[in-house]
Amino acid sequence: MGPISAPPCRWCIPWAGLLLTASLFTFWNPPTTAQLTIEAVPSNAAEGKEVLLLVHNLPQDPLGYNWYKGEMVDANRRIIGYVIATQVNISGPADSGRETIYPNAILLMQNVTRNDTGSYTLQVITLNLVNEEVTGQFSVHHGPDAPNISPSDTYYLPGVNLNLSCHAASNPPAQYSWSINGTFQQHTQKLFIPNITAKNSGSYACHTTNSATCRNRTTVRMITVSDASMQGSSPGLSARATVSIMTGILARVALT
Ligand SMILES: *[C@@H]1O[C@H](CO)[C@@H](O)[C@H](O)[C@H]1NC(C)=O
Ligand SMILES: *[C@@H]1O[C@H](CO)[C@@H](O)[C@H](O)[C@H]1NC(C)=O
Ligand SMILES: *[C@@H]1O[C@H](CO)[C@@H](O)[C@H](O)[C@H]1NC(C)=O
Ligand SMILES: *[C@@H]1O[C@H](CO)[C@@H](O)[C@H](O)[C@H]1NC(C)=O
Ligand SMILES: *[C@@H]1O[C@H](CO)[C@@H](O)[C@H](O)[C@H]1NC(C)=O
Ligand SMILES: *[C@@H]1O[C@H](CO)[C@@H](O)[C@H](O)[C@H]1NC(C)=O
Ligand SMILES: *[C@@H]1O[C@H](CO)[C@@H](O)[C@H](O)[C@H]1NC(C)=O
Repeated sequence: MGPISAPPCRWCIPWAGLLLTASLFTFWNPPTTAQLTIEAVPSNAAEGKEVLLLVHNLPQDPLGYNWYKGEMVDANRRIIGYVIATQVNISGPADSGRETIYPNAILLMQNVTRNDTGSYTLQVITLNLVNEEVTGQFSVHHGPDAPNISPSDTYYLPGVNLNLSCHAASNPPAQYSWSINGTFQQHTQKLFIPNITAKNSGSYACHTTNSATCRNRTTVRMITVSDASMQGSSPGLSARATVSIMTGILARVALT
């Protein structure tokens, strides 16, 4: 058991590379003109940052645009529209208030959250009323959130098995490691120690690292292993004793 070893942040580079290859694809491909495309900048954003959905090869003289959340034109998921003649934007049901549309159809999204991850469809309304549609996508990572250690028990009887599990919301998924009393144990999401004794008492820490952001978070659980007679003095039981005494007093007050 050495000191806490740093989670393998060398994973960051392959991950970033993989995510950068995330595809931007087109459904409509006009044969005579350059292809309408969307470019998300960045295509993989950190939570709270902003993303620009750039539009390339807009058709000539469009009448206006609509942006939709998702992979298709769906009035229920319209974010915002823009009418070129009147220079007016019209927000739709999926407008979060964090979007800005520009006269060249570019959409700016601010303060992105994990929920913003996904596809966005641009509909370009043209004079000949043959609308063009194109879909692009981006993903949002953060994370990881502070990990949660389960079960939540802090007192254990000697001889039982300690079976701890750690979980943190993260995109991409978090990498986990455990330490006890500050000493690194293992790179796993679960920690299993059979037949524990009082010597296994200590501070159990779960560390999580996001392989894309290299951010890390730690949650510590103090665990006490003691036999039944010792448990009488545990805070949990003394609190329960206090409650039962108080209940008794209240009952007597009520009777008199
Ligand atoms: C956790 O992140 C901090 C910066 O936020 C960094 O200084 C530290 O080295 C990281 N720890 C590990 C174990 O990766
Ligand atoms: C983005 O978040 C910051 C800080 O939380 C806030 O001041 C700002 O108004 C937000 N912007 C939008 C467009 O929601
Ligand atoms: C919509 O247009 C108004 C008036 O031009 C402008 O103030 C507002 O910022 C625009 N909203 C969006 C989301 O683009
Ligand atoms: C994401 O969406 C879920 C379910 O719709 C919601 O409970 C959660 O609060 C949202 N999170 C953010 C950061 O908007
Ligand atoms: C540890 O607990 C999990 C449930 O949280 C269970 O699925 C698993 O089998 C347990 N492991 C052992 C070795 O008891
Ligand atoms: C648990 O450990 C105790 C000694 O610490 C030993 O006597 C007992 O046999 C062990 N039980 C199991 C199931 O391994
Ligand atoms: C953790 O430290 C405490 C206090 O020094 C000690 O009693 C306990 O045995 C240690 N636990 C482990 C698993 O080393």
